[in-house]
Amino acid sequence: MSSHLATRPDESVDYDEIYAEGIIVEKDPNLTHSVKVRDLKKSFGSFDVLTGLNLDFADDSITTILGPSGTGKSVLLKHIVGLLEPDSGIVEVFGQDLWRISEKERQEIRKRFGVLFQDGALFGSMNIYDNVAFPLRKHTDKRESEIREIVMSRLEEVGLTKAVGKFPGEVSGGMKKRAGFARALVLNPSVVMFDEPDSGLDPVRTSLLNDLILKVHAEHGGTYILVTHDILTARKVSDYVGVVWKGKLIHYGDTEEAFNSEMPFVRQFLSGNSVGPLGMD
Ligand SMILES: Nc1ncnc2c1ncn2[C@@H]1O[C@H](COP(=O)(O)OP(=O)(O)O)[C@@H](O)[C@H]1O
Ligand SMILES: [Mg+2]
Repeated sequence: MSSHLATRPDESVDYDEIYAEGIIVEKDPNLTHSVKVRDLKKSFGSFDVLTGLNLDFADDSITTILGPSGTGKSVLLKHIVGLLEPDSGIVEVFGQDLWRISEKERQEIRKRFGVLFQDGALFGSMNIYDNVAFPLRKHTDKRESEIREIVMSRLEEVGLTKAVGKFPGEVSGGMKKRAGFARALVLNPSVVMFDEPDSGLDPVRTSLLNDLILKVHAEHGGTYILVTHDILTARKVSDYVGVVWKGKLIHYGDTEEAFNSEMPFVRQFLSGNSVGPLGMD
């Protein structure tokens, strides 16, 4: 990494205080936002995880959420799909406040999401084909012939047509992720979320998966929200980058802005530097 990123932070500065408020992004009036998060707060017991997070996700773009482990990124995604209820604040999806509607309505909204969890979250007892067919069988009344067409075209897209009969335990980590991605896409979601799609993959497979994400996004569009701590992934796939620290958004901008940020924390994080406001705590 270039040496200017290694700037030693001013030790007299209290970064916690500087970042304490988080930021509120001024919206680009030319963009629409199907997913809006307002002053979101969530604690587990006495542990405050999300502490007032604000972010609207630009439609038809890929927004990457970066931040250290344990900072609330997965908790944020779970709020967006309505699996967790905020202590306070609002999660608005497709114009609906997720917690002012019924559970049934939330479930309807969830069908418009595709989610790829960290490990692909495939059912171990089903082969790849049945895993990918599962959402269609569960949520639609399509006939098996129609389902086959959709499943096979998605599996072709992710390069898995030869693995249809294999079980998750019989394929590589990269193949599991691709199968999970295919499954996340079968209902033609408007919003697709990825929680650390690159975890457990070697750099080459990560890069191939990133290419796949970009290809599928270019083809089908949609609002993509990607959580990662892989800097190369963020740089390659993002239109926008949000940086979360201690449960708040502290930086937001396009990818160039993030990688050129002057903020000591953002610099440190994006350069993987051990010197900076981000410690081991
Ligand atoms: N359901 C839960 N109950 C209690 N604590 C939780 C729960 N979910 C997450 N946490 C805690 O919240 C913090 C943030 O978690 P998470 O969002 O998973 O972090 P990350 O940014 O690494 O994805 C962690 O300390 C985690 O242990
Ligand atoms: Mg996580």
